[in-house]
Amino acid sequence: MAPATDHQAASPPPEGDRLQKVLARAGVGSRRVCDDLVASGRVTVNGARAVAGQRVDPRHDLVSVDGVPVPVAPGLVYYLLNKPAGVVTTASDPANRRTVLDLVPAAPRVFPVGRLDYDTEGLIVLTNDGELAHRLAHPSHGVAKEYLAEVEGTPGPGDLRRLREGVELDDGRTAPAEVGQVAPCALRIVVHEGRNRQVRRMLEAVGHPARRLVRTRIGPVSDTSLRPGRWRPLRSEEVAALYAASAQGSETLRHRLRAAAHAGTAPRRTGGGR
Ligand code: URA
Repeated sequence: MAPATDHQAASPPPEGDRLQKVLARAGVGSRRVCDDLVASGRVTVNGARAVAGQRVDPRHDLVSVDGVPVPVAPGLVYYLLNKPAGVVTTASDPANRRTVLDLVPAAPRVFPVGRLDYDTEGLIVLTNDGELAHRLAHPSHGVAKEYLAEVEGTPGPGDLRRLREGVELDDGRTAPAEVGQVAPCALRIVVHEGRNRQVRRMLEAVGHPARRLVRTRIGPVSDTSLRPGRWRPLRSEEVAALYAASAQGSETLRHRLRAAAHAGTAPRRTGGGR
């Protein structure tokens, strides 16, 4: 190879990281897949269609695929925790009880996405990515959350129908839920809303209060091998899938609201979330 000339040595290195590499690092797919996404015009950088070979600044540029932001900034961490009962989801507790932050690394500082009750067990995401936190917790994105509930008594077909179609709570009727009976006194319930103590209140409303409630899935993320009290980092594909689910969720919710408005049964939209 010919030695570099003075002129070549003086030219500044290209700025930023190659877009395909940044996308692949964020778990969107292999470099080859990311090349194809860029070539087919599905990738934007700061709202403008990306071109092959483009370089980006992952700290500042907003990279999206099909309109869904991809978390490319360095320093973002994502933990999946299996919260045991008897732990609060807030960052600090005036009563000095154990919090979810006591169960994950202290640095970098993360916060829980949404909330599980003190007595509720199961999966919760903790992150320092405010955009993902907003998307997962906000009801407008309607990400599915699945629970396993052990209940008092044996719910009958009428109870299951009520839970599926929506029950009247003091803050309004719940949106349709998926409900399956996995044992005489155990239900699998999938909700897309995030009201305070929603699943417990739904079960109380049909006369079968929860004895035990466990969240087993958040959108596309589940993990039956994660023991109570343990956490693991989310894989980059899981983070990408959560972003995608939140975009899909808002589309599905818009459809549901339109259909419900048509039928005159619009479920109540509430703020805050879990
Ligand atoms: N619904 C509840 O009732 N409690 C939770 O912690 C989560 C969902």
